Amino acid sequence: MRKQIVAGNWKMNNDLAMTESLITELKKHVKISDADMMIAPAFTNLWHAFEALRHSDIEVVAQNMHFAESGAYTGEISAGMLKSVGIQTVILGHSERRAYFNETDDLLAQKVNTALKNNMRVIFCFGEELADRKSNNHEMVVENQIKKALFHLNSDAFNSLILAYEPVWAIGTGETASPEQAQDMHAFIRETLANKYGQNLADSVSILYGGSVKPNNAREIFSKPDVDGGLIGGAALKAEDFMAIVNAF
Ligand code: G3H
Repeated sequence: MRKQIVAGNWKMNNDLAMTESLITELKKHVKISDADMMIAPAFTNLWHAFEALRHSDIEVVAQNMHFAESGAYTGEISAGMLKSVGIQTVILGHSERRAYFNETDDLLAQKVNTALKNNMRVIFCFGEELADRKSNNHEMVVENQIKKALFHLNSDAFNSLILAYEPVWAIGTGETASPEQAQDMHAFIRETLANKYGQNLADSVSILYGGSVKPNNAREIFSKPDVDGGLIGGAALKAEDFMAIVNAF
């Protein structure tokens, strides 16, 4: 059975006080689904969030990290630093990192290697842009993103990988992929994994969908057989909405 996961990516939102208050709100809600729950606050609030959620079933994860173990990389954060404040999982390859910080597939392959070397789990994000979908190249784009960043790994590495398909045109736009579009792409991703690593491995990897998931569309998206959860942006900033999405499983 694959893990069902709902992860809230807070992006560059919430200072310390807002982080405290959102965590307090989240704790008030009852989780009735079996889905694993994660939140990704800003770097400055990770330690506080980790402490506040230490005995809860919400895992605190990081939004990014550098590929080097340490060194002269002003402004960057290493895997070791994340682990030293209790963080075991990191989001890599988010389209905002790719678009605004020029993160390439090659760079992301290095980041993935470093995370895995440090025994961290990775939520690896990828997805096509609107032009790719309009030109019917979306599958090729996604296949290349996966191959370039992940296909040098051995099959054991996939025990520590969660994939997140996020069509760029659906992120923060209010326009979500239809449940059928999400399912089609997730099935394609699984097939791509199966072709390289075999069906058993492909069937074991959780693939999340991200892009304007809200309380009113989560249930239908999550009902699709190859959709194992969601990476939630805007709706993760309100405890009520986030918990409604978690409980949509
Ligand atoms: O990491 C989360 C995704 O970018 C989705 O963001 O739910 O605001 O569209 P969104």
